[in-house]
Amino acid sequence: MAAKGSSIWSKHGIFEKHSYWLMLGILLVVSIGGLVEIAPLFYLKNTIEKVEGMRPYTPLELAGRNIYVREGCYNCHSQMIRPLRDEIERYGHYSLAAESMYDHPFQWGSKRTGPDLARVGGKYSDQWHLEHLKNPRAVVPASIMPAYPWLAKTKLNTKHIAEDMRVLALMGVPYTEEMIEHAEEDLKTQATTDADSEGLDQRYPKAQVRNFDGNAEDITEADAIIAYLQMLGTLVDFKLYDNKANVR
Ligand code: HEC
Repeated sequence: MAAKGSSIWSKHGIFEKHSYWLMLGILLVVSIGGLVEIAPLFYLKNTIEKVEGMRPYTPLELAGRNIYVREGCYNCHSQMIRPLRDEIERYGHYSLAAESMYDHPFQWGSKRTGPDLARVGGKYSDQWHLEHLKNPRAVVPASIMPAYPWLAKTKLNTKHIAEDMRVLALMGVPYTEEMIEHAEEDLKTQATTDADSEGLDQRYPKAQVRNFDGNAEDITEADAIIAYLQMLGTLVDFKLYDNKANVR
């Protein structure tokens, strides 16, 4: 039996007998819990390290990203390398928050039926990606990845790309008026081998300019998604970043 009178537990009777005290108590406890969960969100910006090299996606890469989302690639592929030794040895430097800060919605994924793609850029040739998308078994005989043969056959719809960028700008992606104005032009320039790409380079440093799908006649959905894949993980120069980290 609990001691009467002196024990603080006997005061619990107040809450058990008076519903208003009980409600007040519940409110107090729940609001502490709420604060603990919500307050850190106000400081979220501080937790994203500033990283050199990150820039918004070029219009062509963005169009490719839209196709990546449309086709549900994220159902089988993550884009988030965890800071665990086996992942780093297989995929490269672990992902930084800043690397997905322009992703709306983010593409971290929750399942890896296929490998992580966060640093797939530059790992294969454009030709490899083209064949792989058309028929994965042609380059990886045991692959269970579905084929996407229509991408190389479908002309890319570029009508809405400027609007896409405008919406992303509303969400905090630093697309300028100039970038939005030149959206369609930049998109075409990036997928064309001999175009004058000076403006594009200035607006989007490190943009890779070439005919990604080997078809010079049209800009196809394959052009866009390959441009996107070849960019993934290539924006941040980790040699620079790691040297800095060592000095700290
Ligand atoms: C049903 C699951 C599934 C879906 C959906 C899927 N993939 Fe894959 N993907 C795989 C598997 C499994 C592999 C490993 C075998 C291979 O290379 O084909 C793979 C491999 C890859 C690779 C090579 C990665 C590497 O590092 O070797 C790329 C690039 C890729 N997929 C891109 C895509 C894109 C782009 C899409 C969407 C258009 C997509 N995948 C959709 C399962 C999937």
